[in-house]
Amino acid sequence: MIVLLALSACDFFPESTDTSGTDTGALPSDCSPEVFVPWGTLGADGAPVPASAHSETLGAEPSPYAVRLGWPSRDASRSASMLWRTDVDTLASVVELTPVDGGETVRVEGYSFLFGSGTIGEGLYRIHEVRLCGLLQPGTSYSYRVGGEGAWSDSTTFTTAPEPGSGQPLRVAIAGDSRGDYSTWATVVSSMESHSPDLYIFSGDMVELGANQAEWESWFEATGDLLARKPFLAAHGNHEFLAQHYFAQFGFPGNEEWYAVEWGDLLVLGLNDTVRSEEEIDSTQRQFIETELAATALPWRFATHHQPAWSACTAHDSNLDVREAWSPAFEAGRAQVVFAGHNHIYERSVPIRDGSEVPDGQGTVYVVSGGAGAPLYTSTEDSWWNVKANSIEHYIIGDIGADSASFVVRDLSGNIIDEFTVSR
Ligand SMILES: [Fe+2]
Repeated sequence: MIVLLALSACDFFPESTDTSGTDTGALPSDCSPEVFVPWGTLGADGAPVPASAHSETLGAEPSPYAVRLGWPSRDASRSASMLWRTDVDTLASVVELTPVDGGETVRVEGYSFLFGSGTIGEGLYRIHEVRLCGLLQPGTSYSYRVGGEGAWSDSTTFTTAPEPGSGQPLRVAIAGDSRGDYSTWATVVSSMESHSPDLYIFSGDMVELGANQAEWESWFEATGDLLARKPFLAAHGNHEFLAQHYFAQFGFPGNEEWYAVEWGDLLVLGLNDTVRSEEEIDSTQRQFIETELAATALPWRFATHHQPAWSACTAHDSNLDVREAWSPAFEAGRAQVVFAGHNHIYERSVPIRDGSEVPDGQGTVYVVSGGAGAPLYTSTEDSWWNVKANSIEHYIIGDIGADSASFVVRDLSGNIIDEFTVSR
């Protein structure tokens, strides 16, 4: 039996559409069936084109493509979203979901919106998004397909996060800075996938120019169907450029620039250091970090953002504004590891607390992982905080256990270039 969970348009239709790109903070911080309509798509009258509630209307090419998961809630054990594209006329926005181990099949209706037109390398696209808010069970595998009657996608399977705080071991893959070389990025993806991680973290700069849809097509093609099957938590990089393409094609909680996601025993903070005003660094997001880390009961706390607070690479140096604003918050909040990129190397710091090296378990380790395709940087300087600095394409696999997390950093031939362990 299929249960249809029809969302009432009058209940959930977004009343306003953000067209400025400057106030994405209006979204609820936790899951809502509402979808975020990115700025930039205007109708014939110059007014914003709002989201369209599901209808059975099919266009000439209604087959869903570019299917991917989103995470519209901090609780990834009970909520997820599905995003996909069709031709611009198709308004069918349905997810059909069945627990792999048996159970009721559920259909949930959502919304779609237009984006594109007039920017570099693109036409006009329709993005569909269905948010499953509180409808899922922790640690459960679901088979799903998207579209609607007459135009379903193939079925794909994904697994929700374990119950927060349930103590389950977790494997995380980390990479960053794929911009410009999507062949290398495809190799990084397949290399990470060979370790079967539960969760992916990306430290920003997926593409060279965030407003160039042609580049996004290359990035998504190189990423394959990973995003339809696995959680992928990204930080916004300076090359994403606050473009609508980033916000339209990914689904993160809240305003999507800074957010918190709980995955089992791990809290991941995604942060944005390419901001519209400095206040978003030294006030808004600093307070967000402080609040999230003070409030969480989860034992493991990682953060990712793009421009490193601590870096021995002289291409960009350390971002001292970010260091001054965020490092005290990370360290006081006992974030064990912060992953950045921007400098196209691999590097790792000693554990740091209040500007000094401290023993393992008493400070924050700052990692730069910026070697997923962007041109490598080579110049580094000796720094008291720096343990390791390698100009090399790489990825990181982290195994999180009860009391410690062990990380192995590999180049794209599989050679180990660094290993380290952090304690809670
Ligand atoms: Fe960058």
